[in-house]
Amino acid sequence: MRTGLEGRTALITGASRGIGKAIAMAFAAEGANVVISSRRQEALDEVAKEIGAAHPGAGVLAKAAHVGDAEQAAACVDAAAAEFGRLDILVNNAGTNPYFGPMADIEPAAAAKIVEINQFAVVQWTRLALRASLAEHGGTIINIASVGGLVTEHGIGYYNASKAAVIHLSRQFAMELAPRVRVNCIAPGLVKTHLARALWENNEAEISKYMPLGRIGEPEDIANAAVFLAGDASSWMTGQTLVVDGGATIRPSIA
Ligand SMILES: NC(=O)c1ccc[n+]([C@@H]2O[C@H](COP(=O)([O-])OP(=O)(O)OC[C@H]3O[C@@H](n4cnc5c(N)ncnc54)[C@H](OP(=O)(O)O)[C@@H]3O)[C@@H](O)[C@H]2O)c1
Repeated sequence: MRTGLEGRTALITGASRGIGKAIAMAFAAEGANVVISSRRQEALDEVAKEIGAAHPGAGVLAKAAHVGDAEQAAACVDAAAAEFGRLDILVNNAGTNPYFGPMADIEPAAAAKIVEINQFAVVQWTRLALRASLAEHGGTIINIASVGGLVTEHGIGYYNASKAAVIHLSRQFAMELAPRVRVNCIAPGLVKTHLARALWENNEAEISKYMPLGRIGEPEDIANAAVFLAGDASSWMTGQTLVVDGGATIRPSIA
């Protein structure tokens, strides 16, 4: 089945590495123009080169922006529209977790950062994309949450709460923006990236034994789901959360 992404323009936040980079690469492979953003321009320029080498002729714009900075966010969305004429797809992917420990002990500054980057940025970038053109001609938004937003877990409770908020924000936006704009969410399980390194680096074999599908995720596993949600194959889906976790959340209970 054709994805219908050819010629569309997608903006992906947090695209300098990990899941965001894999999504940008996968969209470019489908013929989409990609606008890649994160804080460091140099890293983005490298990714743009990689995409260009893998998919010669692909439309790629690398534009640095801190997702929590309203001016930088607006400049990035404006640059996307100026370069490609329109914006069709927004992937709110950038995320952070500056705190590990019991939820009651989190400092206000760490809590505020988690809300700013993981949660409010979704609202901010959605608003900008709508104003740029999505509201006018329609489009698709994909928010990257986490299976942590669906379960309880030690150590990353406040991060998980922000991801539960992303799931709800997606449902709310889907309701408010239908039928012109579809909004869906992906809830990844443990994926081998920089963000989750502390969770998998010294335990990969052990964790893999407990995964129903026998391995930790790769960024491309999430990118495949993003291609589906961005494209025409999911045209009757909105407000949903697609869990992509190697079966982690269907492990039998030990109780
Ligand atoms: N890996 C997992 O196991 C897992 C599981 C569930 C959900 N997720 C979610 O997946 C998403 C992507 O994470 P990842 O695992 O791919 O992590 P990653 O490899 O560490 O990549 C994070 C990306 O976000 C960018 N970023 C971080 N803070 C930013 C900010 N303030 N403004 C703009 N860009 C920022 C980073 O680039 P710069 O540092 O250059 O800005 C980088 O491009 C996150 O929302 C994460 O919560 C990951």
